Amino acid sequence: MTTTTKLHPKTIEMVKSTVPVLETHGEQITKRFYELMFSNHPELLHIFNHANQKQGRQQRALAAAVYAAARYIDQLDAILPVVRQIGHKHRSLGIKPEQYPIVGKHLLLAIKDVLGDAATDEVITAWAEAYEAIASVFIQVEKELYDEAAAKHGGWRDFRRFVVVKKVKESGVITSFYLKPEDGKAISDYWPGQYVSVKLSIPGETYTHIRQYSLSDAPGKGYYRISVKREAATEDKPAGMVSNYLHDHVQEGDVLDLSAPAGDFTLDLSKTTPVVFISGGVGITPLLSMAHTLAIRQPARPATFLHAALNGRVHAFDEELQMLAERPSFSYHICYESPSDEDRRHPHFGKEGRIDLAWMQSVIPTKDADFYFCGPVPFMKTVYRALKQWGVSEEHIHYEFFGPAGDLTKD
Ligand SMILES: Cc1cc2nc3c(=O)[nH]c(=O)nc-3n(C[C@H](O)[C@H](O)[C@H](O)COP(=O)(O)OP(=O)(O)OC[C@H]3O[C@@H](n4cnc5c(N)ncnc54)[C@H](O)[C@@H]3O)c2cc1C
Ligand code: HEM
Repeated sequence: MTTTTKLHPKTIEMVKSTVPVLETHGEQITKRFYELMFSNHPELLHIFNHANQKQGRQQRALAAAVYAAARYIDQLDAILPVVRQIGHKHRSLGIKPEQYPIVGKHLLLAIKDVLGDAATDEVITAWAEAYEAIASVFIQVEKELYDEAAAKHGGWRDFRRFVVVKKVKESGVITSFYLKPEDGKAISDYWPGQYVSVKLSIPGETYTHIRQYSLSDAPGKGYYRISVKREAATEDKPAGMVSNYLHDHVQEGDVLDLSAPAGDFTLDLSKTTPVVFISGGVGITPLLSMAHTLAIRQPARPATFLHAALNGRVHAFDEELQMLAERPSFSYHICYESPSDEDRRHPHFGKEGRIDLAWMQSVIPTKDADFYFCGPVPFMKTVYRALKQWGVSEEHIHYEFFGPAGDLTKD
């Protein structure tokens, strides 16, 4: 698609010149925006992640996206790749065009509230027009994504009921759920690396809860498999809502609402470059799907899989990866941060401690490869910086955040 902005040059200038002012008050404005929006539209609490709200993560993500878009208000084509990535997330959550004006209205109210007199009528009118232009790009991109998802063989538009046909413990903290559609009809294929959104109504909870889970097996098997890590309570954090409910209460025969597969973190099967997968903890799930797909679709393509886990107790999918590594083109290496006595009796890990560039260079045959990684944010920062230090170019670096997207270059 192409985008054309019919904004008046004066409006464009006004918006661009006020971006830095809004950025300075970015989090204050979005915090106020959410307060106002949720008090006027509590029904939206059915779709927003309450934990992200409480930790301010979503505030930062939305603020950053709006200001980034405003900087490019006269050339919105430039932000299409980012809009597509956010659009995948929005589509999997079931975001609708009619919800955009609600967001816009409350964003402007929040700007007025926070900026006070500095938010002149001129400034507000310019931002209202800019928001409308940005929103129309999102709506158009998302329409294409909804249409694509529905048009696929076995596809669908919103949420569809899936039965848990098998529940398998993969490690001390990760459990897989094998899912088949309740209607018994076909399910769409997906690109390895894509995720689904799971929508849960938890007894006693006022609102539904939606979370994303990567599909962890290869497509084309007649089921979807998600693999969920239990987010246990710690001294300063409550237990994760959805992961614990799935582990403790969702059993074989139960039904879950799923959106169609989404996401643009996918393995490019048209390439023949060597590929390197680097996962930390449950970040293994999208990469495992890629590795399984590679075994079926491109068995001779050279691949290296590095997995980092705390220790053997929480190390999932070891057997699956050992099997994939029976192929000469595929090698598999394990890093344990703090191996247990049991791990030391049967040492099959290649590195103790945290992943670092020296170890990566010792097991990855070439840096002329496509690198895919996923894991906790500090792990991702380490891997990203190591790859940059090694001289891997940006176009060969691919990653996914298991939460609102962040910036790997900043501490
Ligand atoms: C694209 C994508 C793919 C993903 N794939 C997977 C996957 O394959 N497997 C997987 O296990 N996960 C995956 N995730 C993560 C998953 O979506 C959930 O975020 C995860 O399961 C936690 O959800 P929860 O409801 O259990 O925890 P939440 O209730 O959402 O809480 C999340 C964290 O916030 C903390 N928290 C909650 N409330 C507060 C508070 N008031 N103050 C401070 N801290 C708080 C919790 O302790 C917890 O650690 C993926 C995420 C994305 C975006
Ligand atoms: C132009 C307007 C919008 C922008 C710029 C925007 C931007 C974003 C961004 C950057 C994210 C994070 C994506 C990621 O995970 O990396 C996000 C997520 C999300 N957006 Fe939007 N968004 C817009 C409109 C909307 C609307 C209209 C709704 C619905 C009312 C909505 C609901 C959500 C929800 C529910 C999430 C996931 C939040 C979470 O799980 O915590 N957004 N959006």
